[in-house]
Amino acid sequence: MEPGIATERPARQFFLSMKVLGIDIGGSAIKGAPVNIKTGRLTAERFRIETTKVVTPAAAAKIVAEIARHFKWRGPIGVGFPGVIHGSHVLTSANLHPRFIGCDAGKLFAKATRCRVTLTNDAAAAALAEMRFGAGRGFQGKVLLLTLGTGIGSSLCYHGTVVPCEFGHLPLRGKSAERFVSSSARKRRGLSWADWGHELGDYVHTLERMLWPELIIIGGGVSAKSRKFFKFVKPRARMVPAKFLNEAGIVGAALAVQPGR
Ligand code: BGC
Repeated sequence: MEPGIATERPARQFFLSMKVLGIDIGGSAIKGAPVNIKTGRLTAERFRIETTKVVTPAAAAKIVAEIARHFKWRGPIGVGFPGVIHGSHVLTSANLHPRFIGCDAGKLFAKATRCRVTLTNDAAAAALAEMRFGAGRGFQGKVLLLTLGTGIGSSLCYHGTVVPCEFGHLPLRGKSAERFVSSSARKRRGLSWADWGHELGDYVHTLERMLWPELIIIGGGVSAKSRKFFKFVKPRARMVPAKFLNEAGIVGAALAVQPGR
């Protein structure tokens, strides 16, 4: 059998079993778990590898391969990445190593794991998970999803379609807005929940003026503390915390994989 074909049969079998390995690449860790794409549930405990230095593409490929090995994985893999993705290429890398820019990361990870890999923007992955199984389930109107972490991830959703966006890079005081209103910016700047919440409110109002979402879903680890800051944001639209919290990236990366693609 040709080497390229070797992964195809198991891939089909994995789709029949509805399991895809989801991997989420972040600034401080890379984590993954097999996901039942019919239920959105993890089928095994997630495996997380901390990254101390800013990871290069080569280092990330090694970790992705280690995660696949940990689960003895031979089926399809979905990888979420914090940057603009066109096809299997990374176009931007605001918070990871600049060597990712222009890198065919999909191909690199496929080579490292010997599995079929689908690359997706991390916020688009989170939106897929939230719209199918989480806070946006069944909602057909216009949804803005923001993930507040090291950066700000964003996606627009409408009638089941998820469009990856880059609203974290909206210019603010000559820089990207995420430098002031992401969750890590709050910590770095030592802001109180109220001060940060008000700044986040100004940012959200700017987005609302252009996008007019009917529902805003806030994801990222900080969404677990929504009670502390939601009251200061005061959006026009209904605003809710994401349901998946930290697992949206893994689940959504797996959901982005389509049979036969
Ligand atoms: C990146 C986005 C990403 C977001 C959250 C931003 O810096 O440009 O692509 O979705 O961070 O990780």
